[in-house]
Amino acid sequence: MTLGDAPPAVRSPIPANAGQAWVERLAASECPALTTRRKRRAERTGANHDPIVWVEAQGSNVVDADGNRYVDLTSGFGVAFIGHRHPTVVEAIKKQADVLLHTLGDLYPSSVKIELLERLCALSPWPQARAMLSLSGADAVTAALKTAVMATGRPGIVAFQGGYHGLSYGPLAVSGFAERFRAPFVRQLNSHVRFVRWPDTDDVDRALRSLPDDWSEIGALIVEPVQGRAGVRVPPPAFLNELGERCRRQGAVLIADEIFTGLGRCGAWWRSVREELDPDVICVGKALGGGLPVSACIAREEVMRAWGDPEREAIHTGTFYGDPLGAAAALATLDVIEKQGLVALSEERGAAFARSLEQASLQGVSEIRHAGTMLGLQLDAELGALRVTRALLERGYLVLPAGEHADVLQLVPPVTLRQSQFDGFVDVLGRVLETTL
Ligand SMILES: Cc1ncc(COP(=O)(O)O)c(C=O)c1O
Repeated sequence: MTLGDAPPAVRSPIPANAGQAWVERLAASECPALTTRRKRRAERTGANHDPIVWVEAQGSNVVDADGNRYVDLTSGFGVAFIGHRHPTVVEAIKKQADVLLHTLGDLYPSSVKIELLERLCALSPWPQARAMLSLSGADAVTAALKTAVMATGRPGIVAFQGGYHGLSYGPLAVSGFAERFRAPFVRQLNSHVRFVRWPDTDDVDRALRSLPDDWSEIGALIVEPVQGRAGVRVPPPAFLNELGERCRRQGAVLIADEIFTGLGRCGAWWRSVREELDPDVICVGKALGGGLPVSACIAREEVMRAWGDPEREAIHTGTFYGDPLGAAAALATLDVIEKQGLVALSEERGAAFARSLEQASLQGVSEIRHAGTMLGLQLDAELGALRVTRALLERGYLVLPAGEHADVLQLVPPVTLRQSQFDGFVDVLGRVLETTL
């Protein structure tokens, strides 16, 4: 079986000799926050949490420094939606690298950057759109928040408890996920943010009631159509639509953070559009570059127009924004998603994966949530996901813990993952849950 579609093959303890040597070098040079996190996890779960070190990835498979092969149910934080190192993307990157690596981005751009801007505007739900390119999800959210201020002149933002929008200052201020991420910086964060409840099941009314009464200072609402990092928290039907209507009446700019959910991951190009939020701005990243860092903030033309004041400089740019390699990779990724019908496939496969999980009657799992190929297994035990993900790693499956209390297993596999690979995973998961929780 070729690398990409293969089952796991873990033949050594992890990490073994080669991997361990890398881990020691890592611990001597990386920011201590990460080393400390591994130690803390080891103390809390009684298991080793040293990482595996990746040396190769293809399709749904990852190979570590010790030669072990894994099945990746994380897509590397949701990036490898079309699979790792998709040949069409690799080819496009190589071709681009042969002619142009860098330009004077916002001053004298590359042709490939212009093509990507056009493509993103055409993919947007609006007849007239404009886009700004950047590198990370946090960059795209920053651009969206600034766009809302430019359009409304109002500093206030409504955001959700549990929402995750990135960790640079602008996005961190609107991220309601886990107070510990904010605590050391809180005095430096934008103080105009109002957090409201996120509805899990029948909590819609309370969530809507927690919206502010006075909107005179509020210019934007930012929302993930499905909360990913908070544990694949899918809002009830009609919630996003109702939310959108209420905010629109107040003149707020609606920002859909589709960095995780967009481009087919949740079974639609834009989950927010499918759920009738009717956003004004869409942030996209992660899967867009097929593995390279590319992101974008796309907006209705009339919302983005405020940037175009003739008296004003180009006041939001970045040295590498819209770089040719990233743009070429993104165009190739969008081609693959479009030509291979991966949006529909994501809906289909996600439903089939959810069915396999439901039929397995998994011990210690109280709920299975899914939207396309974004799946979350709610565990009964807090921190349970830390123990389970480690046990799965040792058996060759890469899965991430999610939820503020690490009580959700987050599955976001490449859309090309085979059903047989998933069935193998469900088998192993059943046994791991019985022995680990
Ligand atoms: C919904 C959402 N928004 C924003 C971000 C931040 O993206 P990045 O880590 O690329 O800055 C993430 C990352 O996980 C995300 O899931």
